Amino acid sequence: MVTGQKKEALAKKLYDQVCSGAPLTPDMPFPKTWPEAHDERSKSHRMRRFKTLGIDPDKEQDKVVASYRNNFKFFDAACAIFIAMDKTLTPWSVFDCGAFVHGFLLAAHAEGLGACPQAMPTGYPDAIRAELGIADNLSIILCISLGYPDLGIPLNQYRSLRRDISEYIRWFGF
Ligand SMILES: Cc1cc2nc3c(=O)[nH]c(=O)nc-3n(C[C@H](O)[C@H](O)[C@H](O)COP(=O)(O)O)c2cc1C
Repeated sequence: MVTGQKKEALAKKLYDQVCSGAPLTPDMPFPKTWPEAHDERSKSHRMRRFKTLGIDPDKEQDKVVASYRNNFKFFDAACAIFIAMDKTLTPWSVFDCGAFVHGFLLAAHAEGLGACPQAMPTGYPDAIRAELGIADNLSIILCISLGYPDLGIPLNQYRSLRRDISEYIRWFGF
């Protein structure tokens, strides 16, 4: 967990890297392609979010890029948290990390904090390792930006849609 000048220094490193066009090399690979349904949902979520932000993605590519790059500044949150997992563990242990993160997000919300899990900043793991002295045997698998949210800004007004449970649960024998 990092805050203050150390967080600013890390954010600058990550932001400079993304602006330089350095390729993302996450310890836990991002999907190369998405299943069609996920891809469609992600695109419609993106378009709705741009609408909330007042960005026209066809005409304002600079704003689209700036919005993406904000990931690497932790959306200006006060703290950044990194979840790391020993490299000798298998993907099963991502369940444990996910359960921890889920509980953490609920606890943060209950305290009036805003927390945003983010994969993007983990795209530059070596910079994070170097800045925070994280051992090489740990995979950096998730970032969480954390702080008191500014509820007045458009980004924090956005609410993503939820799928109806009938779309993803199949019931047998009820
Ligand atoms: C594992 C994981 C990784 C994510 N990575 C990112 C990311 O890199 N950038 C981003 O803007 N949102 C990312 N998100 C989505 C935001 O965290 C999410 O939209 C935000 O917390 C609001 O939650 P909601 O969309 O479920 O309402 C990620 C979510 C999860 C669960």
